[in-house]
Amino acid sequence: MGKIKVLIIFGTRPEAIKMAPLVKEIEKNPDKLESIVCVTAQHREILDQVLELFSIKPDFDLNIMKENQNLWSLTSEVLLKTKDVIERVKPDVVLVHGDTTTSMAAALSAFYAKIPVGHVEAGLRTFDKYYPFPEEINRVFTDSVCTYHFAPTDMSCQNLINSNIPKEHIYKTGNTVIDALLYTVENHHEDVKGLNLDSGMKTILLTSHRRENFGEPIKNICHAILDIVKKYNDIEVVYPVHPNPNVRKPVYEILSGHDRIHLIEPLEYAQFCTLMKKAYIIMTDSGGVQEEAPSLGKPVLVLRDTTERPEAVEYGTVKLVGTDRDKIVSTISMLLEDEKEYQKMSEAINPYGDGLASKRIVDVIKSIK
Ligand code: UD1
Ligand code: UDP
Repeated sequence: MGKIKVLIIFGTRPEAIKMAPLVKEIEKNPDKLESIVCVTAQHREILDQVLELFSIKPDFDLNIMKENQNLWSLTSEVLLKTKDVIERVKPDVVLVHGDTTTSMAAALSAFYAKIPVGHVEAGLRTFDKYYPFPEEINRVFTDSVCTYHFAPTDMSCQNLINSNIPKEHIYKTGNTVIDALLYTVENHHEDVKGLNLDSGMKTILLTSHRRENFGEPIKNICHAILDIVKKYNDIEVVYPVHPNPNVRKPVYEILSGHDRIHLIEPLEYAQFCTLMKKAYIIMTDSGGVQEEAPSLGKPVLVLRDTTERPEAVEYGTVKLVGTDRDKIVSTISMLLEDEKEYQKMSEAINPYGDGLASKRIVDVIKSIK
């Protein structure tokens, strides 16, 4: 019996971080599995940072990113360009991750070629089609065309069961982000270049990039940050700014020029892990950061009204604060002034994985042929 050909397709930074441990795990089984990596490069610089860190050399690089790209062109480029790759490789299975346009369009592409698709990080839901946009529909759609569903938690498994996905195709694996985080924290301690993180200040780490926060919401977040640094003189804010122009423009306009607000370029993953470990509080609308921070024992304020990752909210280490300026300021003030509240939120918990998700996924893939 020949090897199982696994074509792994991803395109953005978070997909790369979460697929990297899986690529490495597949490579540990050369007698049984052949891994072929295709990056769409929906992201460019921030994708390449991850490929370099994990020493992944893609077999195909579709190089599709354009300045301020739109969803229509992105979807059609991924669909058409992955068609050629799928036809050349003729894989036994295609793996995609999560909820990006790359994942959705690559899954559709494989479905059209009648190749079974495995969905890593399946089953996440907010049940609100516009929040997050377009990710919620990307997930629902991807789950509906996939054959193998690798769901991180009990709740994500249940969401799939409720969507009538056959139980025998649902595998609870944990989230591969914890594999990536544990590996990186253990093997790559990197200082954050150009920042003195031992200045005695309390560091608030901020990231924001969601499409539904473009415009007023992101401006509210920035004004809340100005209010906080004005109110507390022992606070500094570090903000690695996402390269999306819809984020960069308002952020630099409102927050530039303050000596305790550090606007920096997106950090290479190992440096970002160092920063998460050093941070006193994390404010974010990122999916991945919501999963990583609780396992590092960091309180997280989520700058969104809903989340598809309710597990850590239930444990109490993550709070949904939305994008209202006053609500953000009052929640941060409470955490800075109430030691007991802070301790309650900074308990290290691990609802998203134990570092072995990739191994569980590979065990399933080895059994498909
Ligand atoms: C995308 C995903 C989102 C994911 C996020 C992770 C979609 C529709 N969106 O959003 O689900 O949470 O990635 O970060 O799939 N850019 C660069 N260099 C880069 C990356 C981006 O310059 O390395 C700029 C480009 O101008 C690009 C723009 O950012 O056009 C937007 O990139 P895009 O992937 O469309 O959207 P994100 O907001 O990054
Ligand atoms: N991240 C990083 N450098 C940064 C900011 C984030 O490496 O400057 C990592 C973070 O640890 C997480 C992932 O990128 O693993 C999250 O990516 P992003 O917030 O862009 O996307 P999302 O998870 O919301 O889809």
